[in-house]
Amino acid sequence: MNVLIIGSGGREHALAWAIKKSHALEKLYCAPGNAGIENLATCLPVAVDDIPGIVDAAKKHQIGLVVIGPEGPLVAGLADALRDEDIPVFGPNKNAAQIEGSKGFMKDLCASAGVPTAKYKRFTSAEEARAYVKQKGAPIVVKADGLAAGKGVTVAMTLDEAMKAIDQAMVEDVFGEAGKSVVIEEYMEGEEASFFALVDGDGAMAFAHAQDHKRAFDGDQGPNTGGMGAYSPAPIISRDMQERVMRDIIFPTARALAAAEMPFNGVLFAGLMITKTGPRLIEFNARFGDPETQAILPRLQSDLLDALYKTATGELRRVKLEWKNEAALCVVMAAKGYPGAYEKGSVIKGLQDAAAVPNAVVFHAGTRGGGPGEEIQAWGGRVLGVTGWGKTVKEAQHHAYWAVDQIEWEQGFCRRDIGWRALA
Ligand code: AMP
Ligand code: GLY
Repeated sequence: MNVLIIGSGGREHALAWAIKKSHALEKLYCAPGNAGIENLATCLPVAVDDIPGIVDAAKKHQIGLVVIGPEGPLVAGLADALRDEDIPVFGPNKNAAQIEGSKGFMKDLCASAGVPTAKYKRFTSAEEARAYVKQKGAPIVVKADGLAAGKGVTVAMTLDEAMKAIDQAMVEDVFGEAGKSVVIEEYMEGEEASFFALVDGDGAMAFAHAQDHKRAFDGDQGPNTGGMGAYSPAPIISRDMQERVMRDIIFPTARALAAAEMPFNGVLFAGLMITKTGPRLIEFNARFGDPETQAILPRLQSDLLDALYKTATGELRRVKLEWKNEAALCVVMAAKGYPGAYEKGSVIKGLQDAAAVPNAVVFHAGTRGGGPGEEIQAWGGRVLGVTGWGKTVKEAQHHAYWAVDQIEWEQGFCRRDIGWRALA
């Protein structure tokens, strides 16, 4: 079949790389893609938020499966528009994507389904939010309700910080509409992990798990980012823990969504806090993680396209997943300044040498160029995801940094300690 991937990040490059290996694949397309995806797929100049444009492209190229990478188009209803045209799609409809698109929706659903998560209250009045925070005390967590590009969450260690976060979201409108309503919740302590499950309605199957590194700098210092590196599997998720997460978090959520006539189809990404009393949910995402996907897919032995297609068509029960007995680790290379302002257009060299490193692959995220006689340029915040693999996290880390060290890019930076927790 022909496949169309939606998105332009490292996650989508990793999806393209894995789908490309499938025997069932005829032609691979990506909209809009990046300079790395260009080598694997035909990139179409259609933006991720151009719903009619994507539907037209899917018809024109006789697409048998659309795989939606980012949350924006899911929340905007891209999957609905494709399903209306009977085009198979991996990714939830707009109503089910609210699980990521509205933190309030997510918390209410968890409460009704009995999913373990932080205690919370929703507010649309800044005054009431302030009074609640005063009553509860710090530490406490303030979250903009809607999508805020990963910036809407403040883990406030003092009352003052919490009050500032309420003002920013509800008075200064820093997040626009997304912050008009906030969720204030209990602070949870523990170790974080990213857990992925395939879901087709009320059926669900564990896919994989990983650990991300959200802070910009070594030692988990600096501002929060979309993710500066990841490794998989997550040592903290034992077999037992995986079963508990499926039983207590994934299945009840899938069932509750199906019962509310918003069946979820795609990958349910649970951001977990593994606490002393067991796994508790921090947040749900309605899509694969970035950069977790770049550390997960190199471990997959089975045919990814087959698994995604069967999920999309309601035949998840026929999927069997096999994984290599290896660890993989992805180091993100970002433009200096990220997650704040950064420059575009700097030239990246050494990509050929990096590609020649054994047990490693370079995924592109924010890149451009690379045509005949053209150089590869940085064109985003997170620019490359360099993944290595091996028998252990240490070996995977060795291969990843070996490849990173071949890349000549003065305007870029990366963390040098990805994987520290697994190695400690
Ligand atoms: P999110 O954007 O929802 O992924 O939140 C960003 C980060 O904030 C998470 O990765 C956690 O480190 C932290 N966080 C969110 N909610 C809580 C909570 N209730 N307790 C402690 N940390 C939290
Ligand atoms: N790396 C976290 C995310 O994709 O949201």
